[in-house]
Amino acid sequence: MKTLIHNIGRLCGILPPSVRCLEGEAMSRVEYLEDAWLEITDGRISAFGPRASLPEYNGFHALPGLTGAPSRPECEVDELIDAEGGFVMPTFCDSHTHLVYAGSREGEFRDKIAGLSYEEIAARGGGILNSADLLHMTSEDELYRQSLRRVHEVMAKGTGAIEIKSGYGLRTEDELKMLRVIRRIRDSVPVKVRATFLGAHAVGREYASDREGYVDLVCREMLPRVAAEGLADYVDVFCDKGFFTPEDTARILQVAADFGLRGKIHANELAVSGGVQTGVNHGALSVDHLERTGDEEIDCLKGSGTMPTMLPGASFFLGMPYGRAKDFIRAGLPLALASDYNPGSSPSGDMRFVMALGCIQMKLTPEQAFNACTINSAYAMGVEDCLGSISVGKLGSVIITEKLPSLAFIPYAHHTPFIRRVIFPSL
Ligand code: NIG
Ligand code: FE
Repeated sequence: MKTLIHNIGRLCGILPPSVRCLEGEAMSRVEYLEDAWLEITDGRISAFGPRASLPEYNGFHALPGLTGAPSRPECEVDELIDAEGGFVMPTFCDSHTHLVYAGSREGEFRDKIAGLSYEEIAARGGGILNSADLLHMTSEDELYRQSLRRVHEVMAKGTGAIEIKSGYGLRTEDELKMLRVIRRIRDSVPVKVRATFLGAHAVGREYASDREGYVDLVCREMLPRVAAEGLADYVDVFCDKGFFTPEDTARILQVAADFGLRGKIHANELAVSGGVQTGVNHGALSVDHLERTGDEEIDCLKGSGTMPTMLPGASFFLGMPYGRAKDFIRAGLPLALASDYNPGSSPSGDMRFVMALGCIQMKLTPEQAFNACTINSAYAMGVEDCLGSISVGKLGSVIITEKLPSLAFIPYAHHTPFIRRVIFPSL
């Protein structure tokens, strides 16, 4: 199956296939070709180039600007898409979400508006525990149905890869239920899905005054079962004030490593938690949130291979400080952005809005925000070998837009509908 997208105004996000992520100064450039074409063969990008280099395709030589060379049957395309001068770019990679959840929490939204903080709501038994109660009462099929809707919603907004966490179960069977739903989603949509086991999202109700007992449950019962069923790609811990300590986190990451699972840690959202250091010391793939970080955290990330990931949607929704994105990049670090799509701190998975917040609130340039939402977020979920850039050999997962004046228009006019089509590789 061959698809040819022609008449592309700008093909953006081109990278050599060997580039795994962009760091520091390199984040400021987005390579592109103007007046280009892109060929996808059997779901993978097989070639691209400027109009003048377009190979001769059957029935295609009549297009303006091309000579009428005789067609070659072996070059026939099955699908010809006219981009009408729009942009073609890689789909967004959303490396941090909790989009499998039951119901919603707009009651707490009212509490927040009335002045309660995230921690106060959690301390009153709301927050994550509230979602855990709802999830417990929801069947696996219903949970799948509700969650799949959210996946379709973000696919239409241009997301082509998504990491989804458990963490609203907090009981072994409910955590497994969530992870099975994530697996069903993975098997039924053409986006790349990565599953993360987040049993240590909050201490389950049955262990209210026994955090250590709950960590035991995570390490001794949950993790072995998750690993035995092959339900997770990564393991996460909410390492923060009022939730889990760096010691709990280290213990869980150690057990995870014994099962061959790498960490992706929630750190430094509510306080300077030590989570960044713990994540880096255990070779975590990413440390996420980072609303509150000092220079020590920046230093410890240097050369670590751990992707710092910021979630500006949570800062926006909870009225928290935004992460020091510019300082991270100035220090030569890479940076990823993700949506954190969840019912409590970021009820949106719109990566274009994330890009806009990155620019408006964190002062990233549009190019830095673009790279943070594509190649770097691909790295943060371990899919950079097949997604996150326009590169020969990667999956043909691309957004085709209306004609746009420039890359900056994407975060600038952040709610103007401009996506004409999102192409996903066939399953
Ligand atoms: O990433 N911080 C921890 N977990 C989520 C929020 C979960 C919730 O409130 O339901 C987050 O913000
Ligand atoms: Fe989160």
